[in-house]
Amino acid sequence: MTPASRYPPDLDRWREAARIAARARELGIRLAVPGARRRDVAEAIETYVREHGAQPAFPANLSRNDEAAHYTPDADDVAELADGDLLKVDVGAHLDGAVADTADTVEVGGGRRHVHLIRAVHDALAAGIAAVRPDGRVDDVSRAIAEAIRARGLKPVVDLTGHTIDRYVLHAGKSIPNVPGMSDATFVEGEIVAIEPFATNGAGRIGNGAFGHIQRFRRPPPAGDPVLAELFARFRTLPFTARWARSPEERQALDRARRTLQAYPVFVEAAGGLVAQAEHTVLVGPSGAEVLSLAPAPDR
Ligand code: CO
Repeated sequence: MTPASRYPPDLDRWREAARIAARARELGIRLAVPGARRRDVAEAIETYVREHGAQPAFPANLSRNDEAAHYTPDADDVAELADGDLLKVDVGAHLDGAVADTADTVEVGGGRRHVHLIRAVHDALAAGIAAVRPDGRVDDVSRAIAEAIRARGLKPVVDLTGHTIDRYVLHAGKSIPNVPGMSDATFVEGEIVAIEPFATNGAGRIGNGAFGHIQRFRRPPPAGDPVLAELFARFRTLPFTARWARSPEERQALDRARRTLQAYPVFVEAAGGLVAQAEHTVLVGPSGAEVLSLAPAPDR
């Protein structure tokens, strides 16, 4: 380890958080069958994370079809998944702020209508990961991602990016664009990075949709509100959802705190195109990326 490296002192915790997130992601993919409720899938993912000793780093994102990201079901969402839905399962887990972020896309019902889109993001994720080098250029990763997606006649989504991750900070200082020409940054050995290509058959841009039930504290809440203080102690500045409130008092507190909270809109493909996503959390190692959120052997 050189002085210029950034390995977290508790690297084992980051590895463990990523293993848990990967298993929860696979669980979500398996549960995404026709007739399943999105809310039940989200709760199963989040329960898995908690039962394995971690906490969700954000609500399970279950964005469908032209929704690219940032939708989580709320408590009274009874919508069911339909055959042919293109579902993104984006999962975060953390252990004392050691965060992992990983996603995959599944065609509900296992048909083969969207194979091309799913393969495009798998290709792009592999190509992007293979291009990571310590002291290497972020732009090399962006170019590899864009080329893999364009090689299948599809478009990378230009305004969604991968990102470095710090303790309790999901999107830290550095973005990893999905198209080249947008970053002068380089990777540093020991960094934790989420690489997350999005591919679409639409315009390749996103717009803001309705509130997707995801929010986060921009800053600590005003003093003198014990319910809000407890919520902030639980979520810090990581994204959460009102579905996680444990009492009506907590729900009311979130309403009171609106000015302290950032509300996320659903990201929707600008031309209504279908969107696929794949994401791994990687460690920038001495000779390249080590994937921390690989698909594990099934749990038993
Ligand atoms: Co991410």
